[in-house]
Amino acid sequence: MTILVVGRSGQLGQSLLTALPRQYPDAVFWDRQALDLVQLETIAERLAGLKPQIIINASAYTAVDMAEQETELAYAINRDAVNALAGYCARNDAALIHVSTDYVFDGAADAPYLETAATNPMGVYGASKLAGEQAIAASGCRHLIIRTAWVFSPFGQNFLKTMLRLGGERDELNVVADQIGCPTFAGDLADAIVATLTTINAGTCPWGLYHYAGDAAVSWHEFAHEIFAQARSTGLPTPNTLNAIPSSNYPTPAPRPAWSVLDSGKFEAAFGQSGSNWRAGVSACLQALNQPTE
Ligand SMILES: NC(=O)c1ccc[n+]([C@@H]2O[C@H](COP(=O)([O-])OP(=O)(O)OC[C@H]3O[C@@H](n4cnc5c(N)ncnc54)[C@H](OP(=O)(O)O)[C@@H]3O)[C@@H](O)[C@H]2O)c1
Repeated sequence: MTILVVGRSGQLGQSLLTALPRQYPDAVFWDRQALDLVQLETIAERLAGLKPQIIINASAYTAVDMAEQETELAYAINRDAVNALAGYCARNDAALIHVSTDYVFDGAADAPYLETAATNPMGVYGASKLAGEQAIAASGCRHLIIRTAWVFSPFGQNFLKTMLRLGGERDELNVVADQIGCPTFAGDLADAIVATLTTINAGTCPWGLYHYAGDAAVSWHEFAHEIFAQARSTGLPTPNTLNAIPSSNYPTPAPRPAWSVLDSGKFEAAFGQSGSNWRAGVSACLQALNQPTE
């Protein structure tokens, strides 16, 4: 059973690089050098060379604000390349595990989003990710689409790392308090994906659309507060003042949903993995970031 992870160098890709080989030591990881998803015409040929039976797509165009300008590129990676991966899976009886986003929603709800909730993306990024989901469903391949949210890890760029950097530079920070979501530790998301493989290998996978995100909803301001509380206890520099501001004071090119809370209950029932304990994830990140690099 050849398992291929596309998107090796991203937050999820690197987290899978730790989680997956524990049970699947022969899993293959491709980065952009191994497969540039923009080169659409090469995707089928590269996959035919490896013949994976399971593809985990950890890659995406994730620059939410830049997507408003780089619309074609966002759609090329988030829709067209995903369509090509799904097409390979449909033609070769392979399975696709794909990751999507809370930004397919407009944030107008006031209860956690179920998988059955109506989508209505607010920006190009969310719309391109939704188009990727639709391409997978239309391909007819066996698939899991796992929507997640507010991903953080010791790797790449994310809110936790930005807060730690700014906390070391500034005495006072303003953080948005009127957007609510579920921070998700990429290590937990990687473990959740590994849990789905057990059911795929057993032939019992309940294919379809799932939500998997943090186990407690907070605002960005509350998330920052927790990051700094934990950082302070490890001796890292933190700001003296953390102001809660409305998002109207922090305009961004792409609007964000005010309510991004995903209900992970269906995933937990299907795969036995409860939502990400993101407070423990913050602790794991701080520990990983404090390790001396070789
Ligand atoms: N980050 C979040 O807060 C968040 C929230 C909700 C959903 N998600 C979803 O979760 C998944 C994982 O996100 P993440 O945070 O791990 O993303 P990430 O850190 O931005 O990583 C994205 C990966 O995609 C790769 N990639 C981009 N363009 C490519 C191309 N043309 N060819 C090959 N690879 C390419 C990147 O390669 P390079 O390293 O070479 O650029 C990188 O490895 C994505 O599907 C994302 O949409 C993320």
